[in-house]
Amino acid sequence: MIVYFNNEFKELEEVAVSPFDRGFLFADGVYESIRTYNGKLFRYKDHLDRLRKSLKETRIDFKDLGSLENIIYELIKKNEIKNEALVYLQITRGSAIPRTHSFPKEKISPTLFISVKELNENNEEQEKAVKVILQEDIRWLRCDIKSISLLPVVLASQKATKENAAEAILVRDDIITEGTHTNFFAVKNETVYTAPKSRLILEGITRKVVLEFCEKFKIDHREEFINKDDLKSYEEFFITSTTKEITPVTTIDYWTINKGEIGKITKSLQNVFKKVVEDY
Ligand code: PDD
Repeated sequence: MIVYFNNEFKELEEVAVSPFDRGFLFADGVYESIRTYNGKLFRYKDHLDRLRKSLKETRIDFKDLGSLENIIYELIKKNEIKNEALVYLQITRGSAIPRTHSFPKEKISPTLFISVKELNENNEEQEKAVKVILQEDIRWLRCDIKSISLLPVVLASQKATKENAAEAILVRDDIITEGTHTNFFAVKNETVYTAPKSRLILEGITRKVVLEFCEKFKIDHREEFINKDDLKSYEEFFITSTTKEITPVTTIDYWTINKGEIGKITKSLQNVFKKVVEDY
């Protein structure tokens, strides 16, 4: 595997990260996951804008955002990826000795790491729907930043895996925020609901795409928080992300929704999504 580390393409085995890297010591860094359709990075500008925001909010001084796109395409080529690629990009504040909680006194360069892997297109979840579980949202209060500090979602996600669920949906003070690595949607009376943009959720690119579809096809939609106690009044549910696209949810904890059938609006949004990415 060839990866990009700081200013070089390298064999993975040749990469050495300092244990004093603040990503390693403090999870002091940000990331993005981006995928291709037809070999083209999907909604790259949106991902770049979100990365720029994450860097600004964490005050990580990474200057060369403009060169990343070419580096990513070059990396895909170097790894001889034939089908679609999933790109992981991480920037940490950099490495400094001694370990100090506040930013290092001297100027340090951020650490950049990019890897790509071939996506095995397995659409089973999208076609058959998934089970999710509800878990308490114990994350910090800046979930709008795509931070690499992910321990709360690692634990919630592991709980889901253990319970044969595809995702854990997070609940903070009785309201549903989002999944550990997806946004959450519900449908009632032909209206699509999802949590509003705020510090409590990550503004997913797929979420944005779905809301654009609703706008374009005149499907009523509201960015409103859903109370966990009202869940049973909704008729359809789905989750969205770069890798899960639009994945229907037909089981929440022990509740099977609509006899396990994928909802009508979910299905039509999936069809639109499929068409858009086929033509991308
Ligand atoms: N996760 N919410 C959270 C907390 C996420 O981590 C993600 C993405 C999303 C969906 O965002 P998008 O549609 O832009 O992928 C929502 C990525 C896939 C990850 O953790 O690798």
